[in-house]
Amino acid sequence: MGFNTTAIHGGFIDQEKKAVNYPIYLSSTFAQPDVEHEGEYCYSRGNNPTRASVEKLAADIEGAKHGIATSSGMAATSLVFELLNKGEKVLINDNVYGGTWRFVSNLFEKRGVEYEIVNNFNDYDFDKVDENVKMVFIETPSNPLLEVTDIRKVADAAHKKGILVVVDNTFMTAYLQKPLDLGADIVEYSATKYYGGHSDILAGLVILNDDELFTRLKFINNTLGGILSPIDSFLLQRGIKTLGVRLDRHLSNALKIAEYLEGIDATEEVYYPGLKSHKGYELQKKQANGAGAVISFKFNENSYDLDKFVSKLKLFSFAVSLGGVESLICRPSTMTHESYAKELQEKIGITPNLIRLSVGIEDVEDLIKDLDDAFNYSRK
Ligand SMILES: Cc1ncc(COP(=O)(O)O)c(C=O)c1O
Repeated sequence: MGFNTTAIHGGFIDQEKKAVNYPIYLSSTFAQPDVEHEGEYCYSRGNNPTRASVEKLAADIEGAKHGIATSSGMAATSLVFELLNKGEKVLINDNVYGGTWRFVSNLFEKRGVEYEIVNNFNDYDFDKVDENVKMVFIETPSNPLLEVTDIRKVADAAHKKGILVVVDNTFMTAYLQKPLDLGADIVEYSATKYYGGHSDILAGLVILNDDELFTRLKFINNTLGGILSPIDSFLLQRGIKTLGVRLDRHLSNALKIAEYLEGIDATEEVYYPGLKSHKGYELQKKQANGAGAVISFKFNENSYDLDKFVSKLKLFSFAVSLGGVESLICRPSTMTHESYAKELQEKIGITPNLIRLSVGIEDVEDLIKDLDDAFNYSRK
């Protein structure tokens, strides 16, 4: 079955009433068959039919065995980080979502977990890794600089050392990139973004094939309680059904906007792996079916006024987040990535004039006009 068919027909089917949408089970608890046995559902923190349906759907579109739906993307990341024990170490690429960095830089120390920031995994020498390295955590393309990591290469090298490979696939979704097929062990998402697709829920997903690891993660999630509510599970399922068609439009809009940005003097550099000028272009083409719809660029502050530019935009809302139908614009250094120390931001390239766009599915001519009007208005 094709991706869109699976997205629309995957998950559970309502056998009883034949509703085409699997119902919302708003019940915290479920009556049990007898004193000796536990029914399929017991208590909604552990399992809920609506959540189980979207978990199956998310696993189906990934071509995977197991899915766990969490209360946010950070709950998914936190769940995965629970696999790290005291004394163990994770390798993480140097630009990741700011909340992930906030977790790593603030909560690992008291847990006795170590981390190493890797500038470029593509030429990282896994032969020299410490014995306590147990996990590699990658975002590709990375947030906010859109750097591309070779998942297959990293997974092969890491597995030789018995290291677990986790990919935050939020920017790509299963429609564009399948990290498990490229050798990763766990794929996770902020489903708040493209999966939900309408900026109306927070959700996270952890997807994997390994039965033992799944049982462990499921146990931990039931213990910690960061689960997705039945209503949000329903909305997430609804969002996933249109993921493919939305992304087709996101992608074509994003490429046109990236090309537009590359051709004007208001930008100094444009970061989008769908542009031939991007250093990860070939690799992105090899391992994914598209470049996504997040574009970053360096704003030319010598000739243009950033404040005036942002205030003039009508269609791009000045807001964090991404992956919704509407276009957004943000400044990572003071917004999504403010948890990075200033020196680290500078070192990585998250400068104050770095701007990130989440390109929505509006008419692209209107989006380009909106940007063009704002650039013209802000010219010094
Ligand atoms: C790549 C990535 N991973 C994880 C997260 C965290 O997700 P959430 O905001 O749903 O907790 C985000 C949020 O922006 C993100 O962009």
